[in-house]
Amino acid sequence: MSILVTGGAGYIGSHTALELLNAGYDVIILDNLCNSKTESVKRVEEITGKKAKFIEADIRDREALDRVFAQNSIDAVIHFAGLKSVPESWQKPLDYYENNISGTVTLCKAMQAAGCKKIVFSSSATVYGAENESPLREDMPTGKTTNPYGTTKLYIEKILQDTYEADKEWSVCLLRYFNPIGAHESGRIGEDPRGIPNNLMPYIMRVVVGKLPELTIYGNDFNTPDGTGVRDYIHVVDLALGHIKAVEKVLGETGCNIYNLGTGIGYSVLDIKAGVEKAIGRPLPFKFGPRRAGDIDTCFSDPSKAKAELGWEAKRDLDKMCEDTVRWQLGNPDGYGD
Ligand code: NAD
Ligand code: UFG
Repeated sequence: MSILVTGGAGYIGSHTALELLNAGYDVIILDNLCNSKTESVKRVEEITGKKAKFIEADIRDREALDRVFAQNSIDAVIHFAGLKSVPESWQKPLDYYENNISGTVTLCKAMQAAGCKKIVFSSSATVYGAENESPLREDMPTGKTTNPYGTTKLYIEKILQDTYEADKEWSVCLLRYFNPIGAHESGRIGEDPRGIPNNLMPYIMRVVVGKLPELTIYGNDFNTPDGTGVRDYIHVVDLALGHIKAVEKVLGETGCNIYNLGTGIGYSVLDIKAGVEKAIGRPLPFKFGPRRAGDIDTCFSDPSKAKAELGWEAKRDLDKMCEDTVRWQLGNPDGYGD
Protein backbone atom coordinates (compact mmCIF):
# COMPACT_ATOMS: atom_id res chain seq x y z
CA MET A 1 0.00 0.00 0.00
CA SER A 2 1.29 3.42 -0.95
CA ILE A 3 0.56 6.53 1.13
CA LEU A 4 1.07 10.12 0.00
CA VAL A 5 2.14 12.22 2.99
CA THR A 6 1.74 15.95 2.33
CA GLY A 7 3.89 18.03 4.68
CA GLY A 8 5.84 14.86 5.44
CA ALA A 9 9.15 16.68 5.97
CA GLY A 10 7.65 18.58 8.93
CA TYR A 11 7.53 17.72 12.61
CA ILE A 12 4.52 15.42 12.83
CA GLY A 13 4.75 14.31 9.19
CA SER A 14 8.32 13.02 9.53
CA HIS A 15 7.45 10.99 12.63
CA THR A 16 4.41 9.58 10.83
CA ALA A 17 6.40 8.75 7.68
CA LEU A 18 8.80 6.82 9.92
CA GLU A 19 6.00 4.77 11.49
CA LEU A 20 4.41 4.16 8.07
CA LEU A 21 7.73 2.80 6.76
CA ASN A 22 8.10 0.65 9.88
CA ALA A 23 4.59 -0.69 9.30
CA GLY A 24 5.52 -1.72 5.75
CA TYR A 25 3.83 1.03 3.73
CA ASP A 26 5.41 2.70 0.71
CA VAL A 27 5.72 6.38 1.49
CA ILE A 28 5.68 9.33 -0.89
CA ILE A 29 6.39 12.64 0.82
CA LEU A 30 5.24 15.84 -0.87
CA ASP A 31 6.42 19.06 0.75
CA ASN A 32 7.29 22.57 -0.45
CA LEU A 33 9.85 22.90 2.40
CA CYS A 34 8.43 26.26 3.52
CA ASN A 35 8.82 25.14 7.15
CA SER A 36 11.10 22.10 6.95
CA LYS A 37 14.25 20.63 5.47
CA THR A 38 14.95 17.44 3.52
CA GLU A 39 17.37 16.42 6.28
CA SER A 40 14.36 15.13 8.25
CA VAL A 41 13.49 12.78 5.39
CA LYS A 42 17.10 11.57 5.13
CA ARG A 43 17.10 10.81 8.84
CA VAL A 44 13.79 8.95 8.64
CA GLU A 45 15.40 6.76 5.96
CA GLU A 46 18.52 6.33 8.11
CA ILE A 47 16.48 5.27 11.18
CA THR A 48 14.20 2.87 9.33
CA GLY A 49 16.73 1.60 6.78
CA LYS A 50 13.97 2.12 4.17
CA LYS A 51 13.54 4.59 1.32
CA ALA A 52 10.80 7.19 1.08
CA LYS A 53 10.13 8.99 -2.19
CA PHE A 54 10.46 12.77 -1.77
CA ILE A 55 8.76 15.27 -4.08
CA GLU A 56 9.32 19.00 -3.62
CA ALA A 57 5.97 20.50 -4.60
CA ASP A 58 3.19 22.71 -3.35
CA ILE A 59 -0.31 21.39 -2.61
CA ARG A 60 -1.69 24.45 -4.41
CA ASP A 61 0.02 23.34 -7.65
CA ARG A 62 -2.64 21.24 -9.39
CA GLU A 63 -0.39 20.23 -12.29
CA ALA A 64 2.29 18.96 -9.93
CA LEU A 65 -0.34 17.00 -7.98
CA ASP A 66 -1.78 15.50 -11.17
CA ARG A 67 1.72 14.35 -12.11
CA VAL A 68 2.21 12.77 -8.69
CA PHE A 69 -1.05 10.82 -8.96
CA ALA A 70 -0.34 9.84 -12.59
CA GLN A 71 3.16 8.57 -11.84
CA ASN A 72 2.40 6.75 -8.59
CA SER A 73 -0.31 4.37 -7.50
CA ILE A 74 -1.49 6.07 -4.31
CA ASP A 75 -3.94 4.29 -2.02
CA ALA A 76 -4.51 7.07 0.54
CA VAL A 77 -3.32 10.52 1.55
CA ILE A 78 -2.30 11.77 4.98
CA HIS A 79 -2.55 15.53 4.72
CA PHE A 80 -0.27 17.48 7.09
CA ALA A 81 0.76 20.31 4.75
CA GLY A 82 -0.28 23.66 6.13
CA LEU A 83 0.79 26.80 7.94
CA LYS A 84 0.37 26.52 11.70
CA SER A 85 1.35 29.64 13.62
CA VAL A 86 -1.49 31.33 15.50
CA PRO A 87 0.18 34.81 15.73
CA GLU A 88 1.31 34.69 12.09
CA SER A 89 -2.25 33.83 11.06
CA TRP A 90 -3.42 37.14 12.55
CA GLN A 91 -0.78 39.02 10.53
CA LYS A 92 -1.33 37.14 7.27
CA PRO A 93 -4.86 35.70 7.27
CA LEU A 94 -5.04 35.56 3.47
CA ASP A 95 -1.85 33.49 3.31
CA TYR A 96 -3.37 31.10 5.83
CA TYR A 97 -6.71 30.83 4.02
CA GLU A 98 -4.97 30.41 0.67
CA ASN A 99 -2.36 27.91 1.75
CA ASN A 100 -4.46 25.79 4.08
CA ILE A 101 -7.94 25.99 2.55
CA SER A 102 -7.24 26.50 -1.18
CA GLY A 103 -4.36 24.03 -0.89
CA THR A 104 -6.67 21.38 0.58
CA VAL A 105 -9.34 21.99 -2.07
CA THR A 106 -6.73 21.66 -4.84
CA LEU A 107 -5.41 18.47 -3.25
CA CYS A 108 -8.90 16.97 -2.97
CA LYS A 109 -9.74 17.85 -6.57
CA ALA A 110 -6.55 16.13 -7.75
CA MET A 111 -7.42 13.13 -5.57
CA GLN A 112 -10.96 13.00 -6.96
CA ALA A 113 -9.68 13.20 -10.55
CA ALA A 114 -7.26 10.36 -9.84
CA GLY A 115 -9.92 8.24 -8.09
CA CYS A 116 -8.04 8.30 -4.77
CA LYS A 117 -10.73 9.21 -2.23
CA LYS A 118 -9.16 8.29 1.09
CA ILE A 119 -7.78 11.05 3.29
CA VAL A 120 -6.59 11.52 6.86
CA PHE A 121 -6.48 15.19 7.84
CA SER A 122 -4.54 17.05 10.56
CA SER A 123 -7.14 19.02 12.43
CA SER A 124 -6.69 20.57 15.85
CA ALA A 125 -8.31 20.85 19.26
CA THR A 126 -8.51 24.55 18.41
CA VAL A 127 -11.80 23.81 16.56
CA TYR A 128 -13.47 23.33 19.97
CA GLY A 129 -13.01 27.06 20.64
CA ALA A 130 -12.98 28.55 24.11
CA GLU A 131 -16.50 27.71 25.24
CA ASN A 132 -16.60 23.93 25.53
CA GLU A 133 -15.55 22.43 28.82
CA SER A 134 -12.81 19.77 29.06
CA PRO A 135 -12.71 16.82 28.64
CA LEU A 136 -13.50 17.70 25.04
CA ARG A 137 -15.56 15.18 23.06
CA GLU A 138 -15.88 14.92 19.29
CA ASP A 139 -19.65 15.54 19.44
CA MET A 140 -19.29 18.91 21.16
CA PRO A 141 -20.19 22.01 19.12
CA THR A 142 -17.49 23.64 17.04
CA GLY A 143 -17.61 26.94 15.20
CA LYS A 144 -16.24 29.52 17.60
CA THR A 145 -12.59 29.51 16.67
CA THR A 146 -10.47 32.31 18.10
CA ASN A 147 -7.90 32.95 15.33
CA PRO A 148 -7.57 32.61 11.52
CA TYR A 149 -5.37 29.50 11.80
CA GLY A 150 -8.06 27.74 13.84
CA THR A 151 -10.70 28.88 11.38
CA THR A 152 -8.80 27.22 8.51
CA LYS A 153 -8.99 23.91 10.42
CA LEU A 154 -12.71 24.36 11.06
CA TYR A 155 -13.45 25.16 7.40
CA ILE A 156 -11.33 22.30 6.10
CA GLU A 157 -13.20 19.89 8.39
CA LYS A 158 -16.45 21.19 6.87
CA ILE A 159 -15.12 20.98 3.30
CA LEU A 160 -14.09 17.35 3.82
CA GLN A 161 -17.41 16.50 5.51
CA ASP A 162 -19.32 18.03 2.58
CA THR A 163 -17.12 16.18 0.10
CA TYR A 164 -18.06 12.91 1.76
CA GLU A 165 -21.77 13.85 1.88
CA ALA A 166 -21.70 14.50 -1.86
CA ASP A 167 -19.85 11.30 -2.73
CA LYS A 168 -20.05 8.41 -0.30
CA GLU A 169 -17.09 6.71 -1.97
CA TRP A 170 -14.87 9.06 0.03
CA SER A 171 -13.27 7.93 3.23
CA VAL A 172 -12.30 10.78 5.54
CA CYS A 173 -10.67 10.79 8.95
CA LEU A 174 -10.44 14.12 10.77
CA LEU A 175 -7.88 13.92 13.56
CA ARG A 176 -8.04 16.62 16.21
CA TYR A 177 -4.59 16.83 17.77
CA PHE A 178 -4.05 18.22 21.23
CA ASN A 179 -0.52 19.46 22.09
CA PRO A 180 2.17 17.36 20.39
CA ILE A 181 5.61 17.39 22.02
CA GLY A 182 8.49 14.91 22.22
CA ALA A 183 10.67 13.39 19.55
CA HIS A 184 11.63 9.97 18.19
CA GLU A 185 13.64 8.13 20.83
CA SER A 186 16.64 7.87 18.49
CA GLY A 187 17.13 11.60 19.06
CA ARG A 188 17.62 12.00 15.28
CA ILE A 189 14.31 13.66 14.36
CA GLY A 190 12.28 16.23 16.27
CA GLU A 191 10.68 19.64 16.17
CA ASP A 192 12.79 22.36 14.53
CA PRO A 193 10.87 25.64 14.56
CA ARG A 194 12.15 28.79 12.84
CA GLY A 195 12.78 31.94 14.86
CA ILE A 196 11.61 32.38 18.44
CA PRO A 197 9.10 29.61 19.18
CA ASN A 198 5.54 30.43 20.24
CA ASN A 199 4.81 27.03 21.72
CA LEU A 200 5.82 26.02 25.21
CA MET A 201 8.10 23.00 24.68
CA PRO A 202 10.15 24.43 21.78
CA TYR A 203 10.59 27.63 23.82
CA ILE A 204 11.77 25.66 26.85
CA MET A 205 14.23 23.76 24.62
CA ARG A 206 15.82 27.07 23.51
CA VAL A 207 16.34 27.83 27.20
CA VAL A 208 17.79 24.35 27.78
CA VAL A 209 20.45 24.89 25.07
CA GLY A 210 21.16 28.43 26.28
CA LYS A 211 19.81 30.25 23.23
CA LEU A 212 17.17 32.06 25.29
CA PRO A 213 17.77 33.20 28.87
CA GLU A 214 14.58 32.08 30.61
CA LEU A 215 11.06 30.80 30.20
CA THR A 216 8.25 33.28 30.73
CA ILE A 217 5.17 31.54 32.09
CA TYR A 218 2.16 33.36 30.70
CA GLY A 219 0.01 33.84 33.79
CA ASN A 220 -0.28 32.16 37.20
CA ASP A 221 -3.83 33.21 37.97
CA PHE A 222 -5.74 30.76 35.77
CA ASN A 223 -8.51 28.69 37.26
CA THR A 224 -6.30 25.58 37.50
CA PRO A 225 -4.72 23.70 40.43
CA ASP A 226 -1.42 25.64 40.28
CA GLY A 227 -2.67 28.73 38.44
CA THR A 228 -0.84 27.98 35.16
CA GLY A 229 -2.51 26.84 31.93
CA VAL A 230 -3.40 23.16 31.58
CA ARG A 231 -3.07 21.30 28.26
CA ASP A 232 -3.18 17.74 26.92
CA TYR A 233 0.43 17.14 25.82
CA ILE A 234 0.85 14.08 23.64
CA HIS A 235 4.06 12.35 22.55
CA VAL A 236 4.55 12.84 18.81
CA VAL A 237 5.27 9.11 18.35
CA ASP A 238 1.90 8.25 19.93
CA LEU A 239 0.34 10.80 17.58
CA ALA A 240 2.14 9.24 14.60
CA LEU A 241 0.88 5.78 15.61
CA GLY A 242 -2.65 7.21 15.72
CA HIS A 243 -2.22 8.03 12.03
CA ILE A 244 -1.36 4.41 11.25
CA LYS A 245 -4.66 3.37 12.82
CA ALA A 246 -6.50 6.15 10.97
CA VAL A 247 -5.00 5.16 7.63
CA GLU A 248 -6.05 1.55 8.25
CA LYS A 249 -9.56 2.87 8.88
CA VAL A 250 -9.77 4.89 5.64
CA LEU A 251 -8.24 2.05 3.63
CA GLY A 252 -10.74 -0.39 5.11
CA GLU A 253 -14.07 1.43 4.83
CA THR A 254 -15.75 4.55 3.49
CA GLY A 255 -17.17 7.15 5.89
CA CYS A 256 -16.36 10.41 7.60
CA ASN A 257 -15.08 10.13 11.16
CA ILE A 258 -13.63 12.52 13.70
CA TYR A 259 -11.20 11.49 16.44
CA ASN A 260 -9.42 13.32 19.22
CA LEU A 261 -5.77 12.36 19.49
CA GLY A 262 -4.81 13.23 23.04
CA THR A 263 -3.92 11.45 26.27
CA GLY A 264 -6.93 12.65 28.26
CA ILE A 265 -4.56 14.00 30.92
CA GLY A 266 -4.07 17.71 31.56
CA TYR A 267 -0.65 18.98 32.62
CA SER A 268 0.12 22.54 33.72
CA VAL A 269 3.00 24.70 32.51
CA LEU A 270 4.69 24.09 35.88
CA ASP A 271 4.28 20.30 35.41
CA ILE A 272 6.05 20.56 32.03
CA LYS A 273 8.79 22.71 33.53
CA ALA A 274 9.27 20.12 36.31
CA GLY A 275 9.35 17.27 33.75
CA VAL A 276 12.08 19.01 31.75
CA GLU A 277 14.05 19.82 34.91
CA LYS A 278 13.96 16.11 35.82
CA ALA A 279 15.24 15.21 32.34
CA ILE A 280 18.10 17.73 32.37
CA GLY A 281 18.93 17.36 36.08
CA ARG A 282 18.95 21.07 36.85
CA PRO A 283 16.49 23.90 37.42
CA LEU A 284 15.20 25.87 34.46
CA PRO A 285 15.38 29.68 34.70
CA PHE A 286 11.89 31.15 34.54
CA LYS A 287 9.67 34.03 35.53
CA PHE A 288 5.95 34.62 35.64
CA GLY A 289 4.61 37.14 33.13
CA PRO A 290 1.17 38.39 32.13
CA ARG A 291 -1.34 36.12 30.41
CA ARG A 292 -1.05 35.73 26.64
CA ALA A 293 -4.10 37.03 24.75
CA GLY A 294 -6.53 34.26 23.86
CA ASP A 295 -5.14 31.60 26.25
CA ILE A 296 -7.72 29.50 28.04
CA ASP A 297 -7.42 27.86 31.49
CA THR A 298 -7.73 24.26 30.53
CA CYS A 299 -7.90 22.11 27.40
CA PHE A 300 -7.76 18.32 27.41
CA SER A 301 -9.37 15.53 25.47
CA ASP A 302 -11.69 12.67 26.03
CA PRO A 303 -9.73 10.15 23.92
CA SER A 304 -12.17 7.26 24.39
CA LYS A 305 -13.64 7.36 20.86
CA ALA A 306 -10.24 6.75 19.24
CA LYS A 307 -9.65 3.88 21.67
CA ALA A 308 -13.03 2.28 20.98
CA GLU A 309 -13.09 2.73 17.19
CA LEU A 310 -9.43 2.84 16.13
CA GLY A 311 -7.96 0.67 18.89
CA TRP A 312 -5.49 3.46 19.62
CA GLU A 313 -4.42 5.09 22.83
CA ALA A 314 -1.42 7.18 23.87
CA LYS A 315 1.11 5.15 25.86
CA ARG A 316 4.06 7.49 26.47
CA ASP A 317 4.00 9.45 29.74
CA LEU A 318 5.21 12.94 30.59
CA ASP A 319 8.69 11.74 31.67
CA LYS A 320 9.14 10.04 28.30
CA MET A 321 7.89 13.13 26.44
CA CYS A 322 10.42 15.32 28.27
CA GLU A 323 13.35 12.85 28.03
CA ASP A 324 12.87 12.37 24.29
CA THR A 325 12.53 16.10 23.60
CA VAL A 326 15.68 16.82 25.60
CA ARG A 327 17.63 14.03 23.84
CA TRP A 328 16.71 15.48 20.43
CA GLN A 329 17.53 19.05 21.43
CA LEU A 330 20.84 18.33 23.17
CA GLY A 331 21.94 16.14 20.26
CA ASN A 332 20.82 18.77 17.74
CA PRO A 333 21.12 22.20 19.39
CA ASP A 334 20.70 23.84 15.97
CA GLY A 335 17.89 21.51 14.90
CA TYR A 336 18.54 20.21 11.38
CA GLY A 337 21.06 23.02 10.81
CA ASP A 338 21.30 25.13 7.66
P1 NAD B 1 5.26 21.61 10.31
O1 NAD B 1 5.28 23.03 9.89
O2 NAD B 1 6.47 21.04 10.93
O3 NAD B 1 4.85 20.69 9.06
C1 NAD B 1 4.02 21.15 8.02
C2 NAD B 1 4.73 20.84 6.72
O4 NAD B 1 3.91 21.26 5.63
C3 NAD B 1 6.07 21.58 6.58
O5 NAD B 1 7.08 20.64 6.23
C4 NAD B 1 5.83 22.58 5.47
O6 NAD B 1 7.01 22.82 4.70
C5 NAD B 1 4.73 21.89 4.66
N1 NAD B 1 3.86 22.79 3.89
C6 NAD B 1 3.21 23.90 4.33
N2 NAD B 1 2.48 24.42 3.33
C7 NAD B 1 2.67 23.63 2.23
C8 NAD B 1 2.17 23.65 0.91
N3 NAD B 1 1.39 24.64 0.48
N4 NAD B 1 2.55 22.67 0.05
C9 NAD B 1 3.39 21.68 0.47
N5 NAD B 1 3.90 21.63 1.72
C10 NAD B 1 3.53 22.58 2.60
O7 NAD B 1 4.00 21.43 11.28
P2 NAD B 1 3.55 20.18 12.17
O8 NAD B 1 3.64 20.59 13.60
O9 NAD B 1 4.22 18.96 11.72
O10 NAD B 1 2.00 20.14 11.81
C11 NAD B 1 1.49 19.30 10.79
C12 NAD B 1 0.01 19.55 10.65
O11 NAD B 1 -0.62 19.32 11.90
C13 NAD B 1 -0.35 20.99 10.25
O12 NAD B 1 -1.45 20.95 9.37
C14 NAD B 1 -0.74 21.61 11.56
O13 NAD B 1 -1.63 22.67 11.39
C15 NAD B 1 -1.40 20.44 12.27
N6 NAD B 1 -1.40 20.58 13.73
C16 NAD B 1 -0.22 20.80 14.39
C17 NAD B 1 -0.25 20.97 15.78
C18 NAD B 1 1.03 21.24 16.53
O14 NAD B 1 0.95 21.70 17.66
N7 NAD B 1 2.21 20.95 15.98
C19 NAD B 1 -1.45 20.89 16.49
C20 NAD B 1 -2.63 20.65 15.78
C21 NAD B 1 -2.59 20.49 14.39
N1 UFG C 1 3.15 29.05 27.51
C1 UFG C 1 3.96 29.76 28.38
N2 UFG C 1 5.10 30.30 27.90
C2 UFG C 1 5.49 30.18 26.60
C3 UFG C 1 4.66 29.45 25.71
C4 UFG C 1 3.49 28.91 26.21
O1 UFG C 1 3.64 29.89 29.57
O2 UFG C 1 6.55 30.72 26.22
C5 UFG C 1 1.92 28.41 28.03
C6 UFG C 1 0.63 28.89 27.40
O3 UFG C 1 0.16 30.04 28.08
C7 UFG C 1 -0.26 27.67 27.54
C8 UFG C 1 0.71 26.49 27.43
O4 UFG C 1 1.99 27.03 27.72
O5 UFG C 1 -0.84 27.64 28.82
C9 UFG C 1 0.74 25.86 26.06
O6 UFG C 1 0.98 26.86 25.07
P1 UFG C 1 1.32 26.46 23.56
O7 UFG C 1 1.51 27.74 22.81
O8 UFG C 1 2.42 25.47 23.51
O9 UFG C 1 0.02 25.69 23.09
P2 UFG C 1 -1.49 26.18 22.99
O10 UFG C 1 -2.30 25.20 23.75
O11 UFG C 1 -1.66 27.59 23.32
O12 UFG C 1 -1.74 26.08 21.41
C10 UFG C 1 -1.72 24.81 20.79
C11 UFG C 1 -1.24 24.91 19.33
C12 UFG C 1 -2.23 25.70 18.51
C13 UFG C 1 -3.60 25.15 18.70
C14 UFG C 1 -3.97 25.13 20.16
C15 UFG C 1 -5.33 24.57 20.44
O13 UFG C 1 0.01 25.56 19.25
O14 UFG C 1 -1.87 25.57 17.14
O15 UFG C 1 -3.00 24.30 20.84
O16 UFG C 1 -5.36 23.22 20.22
F1 UFG C 1 -4.47 25.94 18.02
